[in-house]
Amino acid sequence: MMLFSDLLNGQKILPIIQTSSVEEGVQIAKAMQEGGLNLVEVVLRSEASLAALSAIKDQVPGLLVGAGTVTDSDVLQQAIDAGADFIVTPAISTRLLDALSCCKIPVLPGVSNTADILLAKEFGFTQMKFFPANLSGGAAFIKGVATVFPTISFCPTGGINAENRQDYLALNNVLAVGGTWVCQPQWLENKQWQHISQACKEANS
Ligand code: 3PG
Repeated sequence: MMLFSDLLNGQKILPIIQTSSVEEGVQIAKAMQEGGLNLVEVVLRSEASLAALSAIKDQVPGLLVGAGTVTDSDVLQQAIDAGADFIVTPAISTRLLDALSCCKIPVLPGVSNTADILLAKEFGFTQMKFFPANLSGGAAFIKGVATVFPTISFCPTGGINAENRQDYLALNNVLAVGGTWVCQPQWLENKQWQHISQACKEANS
């Protein structure tokens, strides 16, 4: 099975696109690609997000686009139908893990504690989202579980920013860090797409 890490191609951050408009979603994705990124995540938290994901796939060639905030098998299917290149979930249940296990694209199931990690591991997953990273023990937690779960790697998200991203990236069991800090709401309000590109460039350096 293909893994999330196979898509990263050296990219250190997983920028999150949170939008309520298809057009804005495409603009954000273009700005992120302009900032040197090849992989982004669209979180499915608005009416427009699935359509935004599809539009990004159509209008931003070369960009790999994941679907985030997938919490059940219906949304999972919709994300796959919309063309998602990978799937991210904020949390897990046995029902969701059952559905995720059948996926032909890479999946990052969301975990926040050792019981979650063990459960996701039992379903065959070795790469996981750690969420909400800042509230669940931060980089210290990920460092702390490295010897207990030596085969598991993480993409932490939640509270990650320009200041603390290196604390996570310095760890061997961190694949990349995710978050919204590279796409600030005020930049969207003012259509300052170049700020997004610049933040992505800096975050991935
Ligand atoms: C996520 O879905 O991973 C979070 O919403 C990202 O959290 P952040 O906004 O703190 O980066």
